[in-house]
Amino acid sequence: MNKFIVTAGAALAVVVAAAIGTASVRADEAIHPVKTDGLKPLGTTWAKVNPYRGNKLAIKIGADAFNQNCARCHGLEAISGGIAPDLRFLPEGAEGDEWFAYRVQNGSVRDGRVYMPKMYPTLSQETLWAIRSWLDTVRQDN
Ligand code: HEC
Repeated sequence: MNKFIVTAGAALAVVVAAAIGTASVRADEAIHPVKTDGLKPLGTTWAKVNPYRGNKLAIKIGADAFNQNCARCHGLEAISGGIAPDLRFLPEGAEGDEWFAYRVQNGSVRDGRVYMPKMYPTLSQETLWAIRSWLDTVRQDN
């Protein structure tokens, strides 16, 4: 085999690997359950406002849970690369809580296409409010 073909083949393999990498940002990828030991249990009735706001342990758990379950679409540190909304700009307080809770429970499906999978109940209410608590710490004003 001539050297050029070998090199071209290797380059193609890199391109294919990159394409597979991109394809891994997919709605149906596994959601990873998170341990929330130490946080007050919340059960299955959703709170109206974040019960953990400002809670240090919740913020720590939430940072981790975000990296594992949200960052692939919403970006590391919640800085969006454009595939999904930038969650640093969610409204503060109860207004943002309500929208956040709605979205994580329902996901986003339009015309049968899953833009965002439902996060609940694979992720518990505790985990999701922990993520919201962490998001508060990186919040930006519009
Ligand atoms: C597969 C990609 C994907 C994953 C994973 C994902 N999201 Fe989303 N999310 C989206 C998309 C796309 C939208 C916009 C949906 C729309 O506008 O219909 C969105 C919207 C949202 C919104 C509403 C934002 C707004 O400005 O309206 C919230 C809140 C949200 N996601 C939270 C989360 C959280 C928390 C996680 C992790 C537990 C998560 N998402 C995981 C793709 C994703």
